[in-house]
Amino acid sequence: MKISVIGAGNVGSTTALRLAQDGLGSILLVDVVKGLACGKAMDMEDARSLLKLNYSIEGTDDFSTIKDSDIVVTTAGLPRKPGMTREELLAKNAAILKDVSLKVKEFAPRAVYIIVTNPLDVMTNYALKVTGFNPKKILGMGVSLDAARFANLISKELNVPVTDIEAAVIGSHGEGMLPLPRFSTIKGISLEEFADENKVKDLIAKTINRGAEIVGLLGSGSAYYAPSAAIAALVKAVAKDEKRIIGICARLNGEYGIKDTCIGVPCRIGKAGIEGIVELQLSSEELKSLTVSADNVRKLTQQLPG
Ligand code: LAC
Repeated sequence: MKISVIGAGNVGSTTALRLAQDGLGSILLVDVVKGLACGKAMDMEDARSLLKLNYSIEGTDDFSTIKDSDIVVTTAGLPRKPGMTREELLAKNAAILKDVSLKVKEFAPRAVYIIVTNPLDVMTNYALKVTGFNPKKILGMGVSLDAARFANLISKELNVPVTDIEAAVIGSHGEGMLPLPRFSTIKGISLEEFADENKVKDLIAKTINRGAEIVGLLGSGSAYYAPSAAIAALVKAVAKDEKRIIGICARLNGEYGIKDTCIGVPCRIGKAGIEGIVELQLSSEELKSLTVSADNVRKLTQQLPG
């Protein structure tokens, strides 16, 4: 299994190391900055003898090296600055994403393509537009990270092990994020049975703000430990054909009454990429909010160069 990670910043390089340590395949780390990916890959391989792990990570600035990848992850793009929304990154990152996506189309057209660049949902939709790939093969990593954050916050608030929690988040990986307490459970029991309305509201607000909170604390750059863990889980689901249900940004074709745009919903993930879309029974208010987010993604994508 050949897995290429584009972008050797914090998210990309941490992802490459996680994938290698998890034994998911041979890893290629690519960055336009000369020497950056190569230097990081050397450093990561130097750790092999200490970790007693025979993984392989190669670094390069030559995009043609992604040839014949089974999975390509793109993290390339600028991170948010304090006070900036993910949407404000749009124009700059769209140009970077278009460039990268055309290279993926040229050199690795068979790959399952995972988008991590922000604003996540618009970038996923845009990657589909510029590559013309089968929508099953393009996955945006966003709401699985948000669900992990929701689970962590629930665990801390209620003092229950995070391993007993299944948290659900749909919508955009941005201002239109929809954490779903009804579908979030602790050992199968809904969160709403464990926490009163105010506590649930507070947990939702904290989840939506978590990325920005971390950006504010870091001062420069954005989160990468949890994002890389979320990417690694997605890559593993594809590489091992796990058929797990994971929240990702997917192109909808009538599900949830939404067509021809990408938004975060639970999907069945296996070696073909998106092997099914799970339709939750949403309240009319939740459905409205999902529809507004999806319309917004469609409109913003239409403004980008084709
Ligand atoms: C975050 C960025 C990766 O949520 O979107 O931290």
